Amino acid sequence: MTKACDGPRLHLGIAYYPEQWPESRWEVDAELMARAGITTVRLAEFAWHMFEPVEERYEFGWLERVLAVLAHHKLSAILCTPTPTYPAWLHRKFPDIHQIKSNGQIKEFGQRQDACKNHPAYRRHAFTITEVVAKHFGRHPGVVAWQTDNELGCHGTARCYCTHCERAFQSWLSHRFKDIGRLNEAWGTAFWSQQYNDFSEISLPRDTADRSGTAGQNPGLLLDFFRFSSDVQVSFNRELADIIRANSPSRPVTHNLMGAFTDINYFDLARDLDVVSWDNYPFFQPQTAHQPPSPLPHDLMRGLKSRNVWVMEQASGPGGWDRFYSTPEPGRMKIWAYQAIAHGADYVSFFRWRSARFGTEQYWHGVLAHHGQPGSRYQELTRLASEVRALSSELAGSHVPADVAILYDYDSVWALEIQPHSMEGISYYELANDYATALSRLGIVADIVSADGDFGSYKLLIVPAQHVSSPQFADKLQEYIQAGGIAVIGARSSVKDEENAVHEEHLPAGLRHIVGGRVEDYDTFSYLPSEPVEVISANGARFPAAHLAELLTPDAGASVLLTYSGRYYSGTAAALRNSFGQGASYYLGTYLDAGGLRAFLRPAFHEAGIPTVDDLDPAVEICVRRTDQAIYRFYLNHDTSKKSVHLVQTGREMTTGATVRGMLELEALGVAVVRED
Ligand code: GAL
Repeated sequence: MTKACDGPRLHLGIAYYPEQWPESRWEVDAELMARAGITTVRLAEFAWHMFEPVEERYEFGWLERVLAVLAHHKLSAILCTPTPTYPAWLHRKFPDIHQIKSNGQIKEFGQRQDACKNHPAYRRHAFTITEVVAKHFGRHPGVVAWQTDNELGCHGTARCYCTHCERAFQSWLSHRFKDIGRLNEAWGTAFWSQQYNDFSEISLPRDTADRSGTAGQNPGLLLDFFRFSSDVQVSFNRELADIIRANSPSRPVTHNLMGAFTDINYFDLARDLDVVSWDNYPFFQPQTAHQPPSPLPHDLMRGLKSRNVWVMEQASGPGGWDRFYSTPEPGRMKIWAYQAIAHGADYVSFFRWRSARFGTEQYWHGVLAHHGQPGSRYQELTRLASEVRALSSELAGSHVPADVAILYDYDSVWALEIQPHSMEGISYYELANDYATALSRLGIVADIVSADGDFGSYKLLIVPAQHVSSPQFADKLQEYIQAGGIAVIGARSSVKDEENAVHEEHLPAGLRHIVGGRVEDYDTFSYLPSEPVEVISANGARFPAAHLAELLTPDAGASVLLTYSGRYYSGTAAALRNSFGQGASYYLGTYLDAGGLRAFLRPAFHEAGIPTVDDLDPAVEICVRRTDQAIYRFYLNHDTSKKSVHLVQTGREMTTGATVRGMLELEALGVAVVRED
């Protein structure tokens, strides 16, 4: 169960770039923001050159004047470290400050996040500018929080292949393995004569003879390189956070994460933050026209610290650089914000205030168009702000309750990224997403937990594919089920040990007593698209199987839930149920589409005593926030036509004050928040 955030109640903000507009406009902007109901403005994440136009010549006057204008309109500020975009003078002074790609090509100056975080000069200058800015503005009454950097690792910058990184990787490995013999054993370097005599002989996994982007390298080396690269970003963030905390007491430190982004272990990153923020751009998901955007990024971000989050960038206008997405229809921006709130956001800040006239993001449209006059998005924001104000005191201190958790494991994410199995590719994120989406259609919001997190209190745990698995995890899972938990475990679990080597026993290794059977053989569907494989349930329902089939042999005592139909293994078990102690496991040896997954999950929910909503319209989402006093159920219609939905419980609709019972009518893109009786 996640906790509420301390601090301010539900409120709205905006990303603002005063440095991109004439000073004479600032007053107009601040006045309009305040009139719309915005409370907070995020500033300065790309303003390094504004602070330090020439090395060690600092200029703060411009931001002092911005803060004064904002304060005049009772607007507070979230300040950022300006570290993602280094100034041209620094590049000229250190021409090798940029990152190198796996093919040896340099990442040229002109974008962002492209300086190497292991380059000593970049680190020195980044920490100095952070300290100087934090010292100057750290106790300013208008500054209420800090954001470190901006979207660490975005644009494929979490992994760098330069010589600084190579040396740092060698040193990281020597700390991890201590002895080169242990590394040779762990990575199995006897394969293809890859034994090393010393850590200094190890190269970064650059492009090989015919493979690019790390493919074709040793899987053990690759998993460690992914872990190392994540650690580099995490420790960079930690240093920024420490500098801020030393100079700006009692202001929370956050960073804007990217939801579905998988190159950084976000559980690690979140440990150094007071609050997790993230950037929510649902138009990246193609289905958003008639279905809810995926709940997974919302729930994953909330799960990182098991507490409510902030959305630091929420899409407003159409986004894009050289080409851009369709314009969100009136009402879309509002329902996206409500979805975030329903999943545990206490602060939603829109991107960006006004569409830029210059630069790469000229066509990443903001609340105001280029002309700067209030238009339909401004009116929508104003309406939302007044609703949020009304809801704020009710929802203050509320959290998202959950009986179900989905396990999210970055080692497994990376191991499957390194070897995606089938031609189409299995992605851990997509598997977790399938489960989160199936749950959403059943009216359930899940928490997300890590393998070393606490999942004991959930009635049901979903383990999408614990591909890299340790004996400790197996013990924990066994205890969980023993004590009454219901675990749904997906195919390709416990295939690898923590070094990314394949286990020596039958799969799922170390979990066979839990799942009640073993994998006899497996088959990917890569080369046989014309020979579809299906699964058949005990009551004769058929669903297509996807990606691969594990051919299961049940132990005595386990029951077969699904069998295959197709290929040479018709009639072989595809899914098992095994009960022991007070609980049970449901093991699925293949992957199912949305309908199949819902059908597979229903009995598990039933056994766990978790009620499901079985006739939910695919466009409607139901979420809950609760306090000790009350339950608030959100009904969100993501479609552009009206919908009727059965109320889970009668109550009072908060935005209209009306008592509601029976059927609830939702307007196109409409939202109802019901305080239940
Ligand atoms: C985010 C980023 C912003 C802006 C926005 C639109 O990913 O944090 O700075 O670039 O996307 O592209």
